[in-house]
Amino acid sequence: MSKPNHLDPLPASQNLAGFSERDGHWFIEELSLTQLAEQFGTPLYVYSKNALVTAFTAYEQACLNVDGKRRARIFFAVKANSNLAVMNCFKELGAGFDLVSGGELERALLIGADPASLVFAGVGKSAAEIRLALRVGVKCLNVESIAELEQINHIAAELSCRAPISLRVNPDVDAQTHPYISTGLKDNKFGIAYHEILKTYREAALLSHLDVVGIDCHIGSQITSTAPYLDALDKVLDLVTQLKKGGIGLRHLDLGGGLGIDYGNESPPATTEFTNALLDRIAERGFANLEILLEPGRSLVGNAGALLTRVEYIKLGASKNFCIVDAAMNDLLRPALYSAYHAIVALQKNGVEAQIYDVVGPVCESGDWLGKDRSLAIEANDYLAILSTGAYGFTMASNYNTRPRPAEVMVDGNQAYIIRERETITELLSKERLLPQKK
Ligand code: LLP
Repeated sequence: MSKPNHLDPLPASQNLAGFSERDGHWFIEELSLTQLAEQFGTPLYVYSKNALVTAFTAYEQACLNVDGKRRARIFFAVKANSNLAVMNCFKELGAGFDLVSGGELERALLIGADPASLVFAGVGKSAAEIRLALRVGVKCLNVESIAELEQINHIAAELSCRAPISLRVNPDVDAQTHPYISTGLKDNKFGIAYHEILKTYREAALLSHLDVVGIDCHIGSQITSTAPYLDALDKVLDLVTQLKKGGIGLRHLDLGGGLGIDYGNESPPATTEFTNALLDRIAERGFANLEILLEPGRSLVGNAGALLTRVEYIKLGASKNFCIVDAAMNDLLRPALYSAYHAIVALQKNGVEAQIYDVVGPVCESGDWLGKDRSLAIEANDYLAILSTGAYGFTMASNYNTRPRPAEVMVDGNQAYIIRERETITELLSKERLLPQKK
């Protein structure tokens, strides 16, 4: 279906699996978004289970080749959406997990994920996090510096084990995305510089308690073309060849995540097209025997979620109209941090005339906006849905302005399940203490 000719673009309907508009009313699977907002209160994150399953299945199918042989395995990047119920859905579908903190590792253990299905990444792992990862026996630690290699070697010696490690290559490829989410350029803090990687592998191979098992790379996020991926992949495969010549054989290649989604203005490649492009290139270059790991986050959950919010006040002004809602930058940071566009739709048709609004929250910052110059036919107490917020929505939420974080609900068919209760102010304040009274 083509995109509607709309002032404020919506993601194409085929990309919004789980969400639909019928006769002017918005649904998530079989349930009305307005009713969910009334039942659970706002702000509220809602996710479609069917959309999660559909997105995962697309990757899974692309990972199998014509004779059904598995060419790659999916490790969901938990940072995109770490709710236990979301993780558990993916676990049941066969996913592994890409983790970047001890907290995310504890989540994976809590849902009973097999440690062999966990990769532990991140540029600044603490000693405690490395210890935990080695104790539980994760599949691999993705390492980003020589200092970290030495630290892991030291801790593995203490624990009398060998640490499976991969080195993250910084391939110096421009992912052509927002500078804050571009990670594969030589000026980024991530990975080991391309020209230093062979030397670093040789050093790693000499350390007594490390098993050098893989190589990894992640060039950025919200990438909407396969070209930069293929450039990075070619560079990484060249390294694999050189390492092999030097006597360092690798078992796996982890290509990271980063496939973009349609927020309304983008046309990223379909999952199958993207995955096939990479896996075909790997096979063409004769590396089909390498185990391949992919770490998608956003493309598995982004379009599966929406943030529901209620209009508190309409404030008409000489130069701007504001629609002040009960969600804010603390609930959804992406617009404030990256000037990110999220489509916003009104959940009711009430005959009010459409006007152009900035949709803003109650937080005391001019940067607290969720959408700019949006055409909306709304009045106070109406509900809005901010679409495509399933990735990096709740996980980036904070308590700024002492605002409790939203509840999260997962919808499966005509059933809604609360998967995270709304935080209370009592809970927020419960960890704080006054200084003792001076006598
Ligand atoms: N693997 C690694 C090593 C990563 O650093 C990331 C994301 C992923 C996988 C998953 O990437 P994805 O498939 O989700 O693009 N907060 C930003 C996105 C930050 C991404 C950080 N790394 C946003 O809201 O756009």
